[in-house]
Amino acid sequence: MKSDNNFIYLNGLYWENKVEEIEEQIIKNKLVLKEVTKRKVGTTGPTHRIIEGDNLGGLYLLEQAGEQFDLIYIDPPYNTGNKDFKYTDAYFNTEDESRHSTWSSFIYKRLVKAKNLLNENGVIFLAIDDAEQARLKLICDGIFGEQNFVANFIRKNKAGSGHDSKQVAVEFDYMLCYANNIEKLVFTQEEVDVENDSKYKFEDNFVKKRGKYYLRDLDYKGSYSKTLDYVITAPDGTKMMSGGKVGKPNTWRWGKEKFEWGIKNDFIVFKETPKGWKVYIKQYQFVDNKDQVRVRKLPHRALIDFNNSKGSNELKDILKQDIFSYPKPTDLLQFVVDLLPRKDIKVLDFFAGSGTTLHATMLQNKLDEGIRTCTLITNNENKICEEVTYARNKAAIEGYETRRNKKVLGLKNNQLKYYKIQVKK
Ligand SMILES: C[S@@+](CC[C@H](N)C(=O)[O-])C[C@H]1O[C@@H](n2cnc3c(N)ncnc32)[C@H](O)[C@@H]1O
Repeated sequence: MKSDNNFIYLNGLYWENKVEEIEEQIIKNKLVLKEVTKRKVGTTGPTHRIIEGDNLGGLYLLEQAGEQFDLIYIDPPYNTGNKDFKYTDAYFNTEDESRHSTWSSFIYKRLVKAKNLLNENGVIFLAIDDAEQARLKLICDGIFGEQNFVANFIRKNKAGSGHDSKQVAVEFDYMLCYANNIEKLVFTQEEVDVENDSKYKFEDNFVKKRGKYYLRDLDYKGSYSKTLDYVITAPDGTKMMSGGKVGKPNTWRWGKEKFEWGIKNDFIVFKETPKGWKVYIKQYQFVDNKDQVRVRKLPHRALIDFNNSKGSNELKDILKQDIFSYPKPTDLLQFVVDLLPRKDIKVLDFFAGSGTTLHATMLQNKLDEGIRTCTLITNNENKICEEVTYARNKAAIEGYETRRNKKVLGLKNNQLKYYKIQVKK
């Protein structure tokens, strides 16, 4: 079965194709990007862009120009029925039977183009909540491939709310994440605070360099390897075997040579227990298992906590009025941008709204001396693009005063260009 003008078919899913006016303009090659030069901001540093218009057209024009991005973040309308999803000038409410297939058609077309814009080692993040999470996951599996699914981040977005909820208070939304090619995606890791970790409770003569330590059983049931299965002699001459015998399933964590290095360098502890001898590795705070100083790092968790109220306050502090609902907080986007180790990545957000992604990119650049660039696409419904997206990021570059008259210095070393998607006559 194939997609046609009436239906879209994707990996066993089948839904109505809602043809959009913008698709006709794309087919007829009628769209162009026009810079509004008077809106240029800044003279030095990385050049960012705001593109005003329908994002399907914007994505098409970026594709035509052969552009590629390392990181795409989108926060599309969640389709909650609360006037957040407008389609050909009509809002979709919860009684509308076709609202899910219409939303699916809308998002599918944009994601197909987004995939073409991703670098080979690129990644896409998609904010969503329960209204469309399940459908979006299936659509993304179809477009990006199930094997490229990285995680469904679960974000605690508010606290202390939901007292009026009927059954349970939901204080979370989601962020789906897909790699363009999972084999090529590398994320940064989180530094672990070993200094204040109470599991490191023992001390020896090496405490100054190595820090405190905890004990890890050398006996281990992992994937079996003969080279890890040998006899160890306890201090009183008792012969010790992993798991009590030579052979599957247990082994020692370290091979014989490494174990002898551990004895010589005081990384091994024997203990006599009522059940016999046990042998342990000392896991130190500040050195690795080769006695090299290390910063302990672990993969980031998929459970994250970035509060929506912070996003609203940030925007109100810049614009002095409450004209955009639910902007994401900049710390969420800084977390996202910082997941890629390179500091010169190209970022794209094609449901930019208030433009948090650009603001956060500039803040992160300032923090780690990066030169990332960010492209935003968003429509100008209710003049959002001009009066919120642009006004906010112009103020972020030039500096502003908060509602409490606190001066915030501009992120001066940035340039911003403003474009409109126009229809050729
Ligand atoms: C949920 S908001 C994004 C909020 C944003 N993450 C922030 O922090 O401010 C989605 C935005 O996408 C815009 N939008 C919806 N459909 C669009 C389309 N087809 N093309 C361009 N922008 C669109 C909406 O007007 C809205 O401003």
